[in-house]
Amino acid sequence: MISTSQTPALQSIGRDAARLLGEFSPIILSNRAPVEPTLDGRFVPGAGGLVRALTSLASAVKASWVSAARTDAERDLASSGTSISSDFEPEHAFPIFFAPTDAEEFQRHYAVISNPLLWFAHHYLWNMAIEPVIDETIHRAWFDGYCKVNAAIAERALEVARGQPRRPLFLTQDYQLYLVPERIRSALPQAVMQHFIHVPWPEPRYFKVLPAAIREPILRGLLANDIVGLQTTLDVHNFLRCCVELMGLRVAEPEGVVLYGGRLVWVRAYPVSIDVDALKRLGESRRVRDIELEVGGWRPEKLIVRVDRTDPAKNLVRGFLAYERLLEDHAEYHGRIALWAFLQPSRQDVDAYRQYLDLVRTTVDRIETRFGRDNWKPTRLELGEDIYRAVAAYRSYDVLLVNPIIDGMNLVAKEGPVVNERSGVLVLSESAGAHEELGNHVLSINPFDVEVTAGAIHRALQMDQTERTERSTAIYQTVATNDVARWIRHQLEDIRSVTPRLRVVSHNQ
Ligand code: F6P
Repeated sequence: MISTSQTPALQSIGRDAARLLGEFSPIILSNRAPVEPTLDGRFVPGAGGLVRALTSLASAVKASWVSAARTDAERDLASSGTSISSDFEPEHAFPIFFAPTDAEEFQRHYAVISNPLLWFAHHYLWNMAIEPVIDETIHRAWFDGYCKVNAAIAERALEVARGQPRRPLFLTQDYQLYLVPERIRSALPQAVMQHFIHVPWPEPRYFKVLPAAIREPILRGLLANDIVGLQTTLDVHNFLRCCVELMGLRVAEPEGVVLYGGRLVWVRAYPVSIDVDALKRLGESRRVRDIELEVGGWRPEKLIVRVDRTDPAKNLVRGFLAYERLLEDHAEYHGRIALWAFLQPSRQDVDAYRQYLDLVRTTVDRIETRFGRDNWKPTRLELGEDIYRAVAAYRSYDVLLVNPIIDGMNLVAKEGPVVNERSGVLVLSESAGAHEELGNHVLSINPFDVEVTAGAIHRALQMDQTERTERSTAIYQTVATNDVARWIRHQLEDIRSVTPRLRVVSHNQ
């Protein structure tokens, strides 16, 4: 279960929600649920930044949460129609409902369309001379997978909405559910709907890799919302350009508005963030302290850390190549530093993800063979899902390497500096969404340039204490100011502002 004891951010979200959402019954929709039943009957928190960011809101406003049934245990819950509770403590708990899915349809939705196709389109991941090949398998998976799972989620959300005491507010999340809003809009024209996209939005020429039969329903689905939320101003710009170039729509870019089907759709940037106090409390927990003691037993003088899902977009391999360059160029570090990669195995039912993890392992093995000695392991590759271990790694780093090829936000770049105990330096890709806020205080790198990345790690390792303190304090202050409460408040304020206008438009219809 999720622990949501009251933090200042949570209290502030609760106050904002009472002020701004009084007339609504919020319903959050996401592919993965915030709590997942395991086969042995336990419940564990769902993986990923999306769940972490939205649990605070759901708990504060007592939202209902609707997700796809991804496993047999979830399918059993879906067919019984019962909800599960997010928390043992009733004052923090909210109900979670599962939408029924057929196992094969879900597999096509997740492992053929959402991740190998849409995720790759959003993150510019293809080697375009040879991929993607959009063939019959993909077209079929679109209709017999993605469309069907989206329809099932919309249906379950509508059922949940019918049981709510107030006007439903649908808060749909991410790229797995692009078709849900249009179905809800056609069943409930008065619904208030916002869709937040956690991933980067590509520019029109890249998005156009998706055939019209796929990209147009996606854009229509999103434009069924009242507000489309993205992570950064660049994402907003790209989305608006897609509306113009690919749909021939009229947009007002300075106002962030698209005119679609006689309605105005707002397109806004809301950079996602974290609950700083909740993370700090976790950092002070006994479990994290015990792990830190263990780390103290093996860590060399300086520790470089990375914490990531094993996703090609995270650019793990180039991170190791840069580290290899550092060891080639600087023999003085041998025996004195290590790169600890604490990685969460991700999407191993997708070929590209399995192959990528193999490449990570091969690269690490080579570095060990080249540089490892009896009394020194230059790399430490750990695979596991353990928030306590991730936080212990955050507290222990001298350098935090966050070098994604491109990333919607990257919450590791915000989480690490908030709990770090060593005035550690953040080496950050200029293509991570977090760079828009933190760029002045980090060592920026081009994620493709392993020479520059090696140089930045070297510079971080050499940086004097004064500069380290200045930079890490500035990052802390930026994140603490722009925290999860602010992320949510801005969205709720916009939902509030857009609602009266909807009423006026609806009276004229
Ligand atoms: O942030 C992107 C995202 O895909 C979220 O939608 C999701 O919760 C998280 O990453 C984990 O992804 P998955 O559910 O595919 O493991």
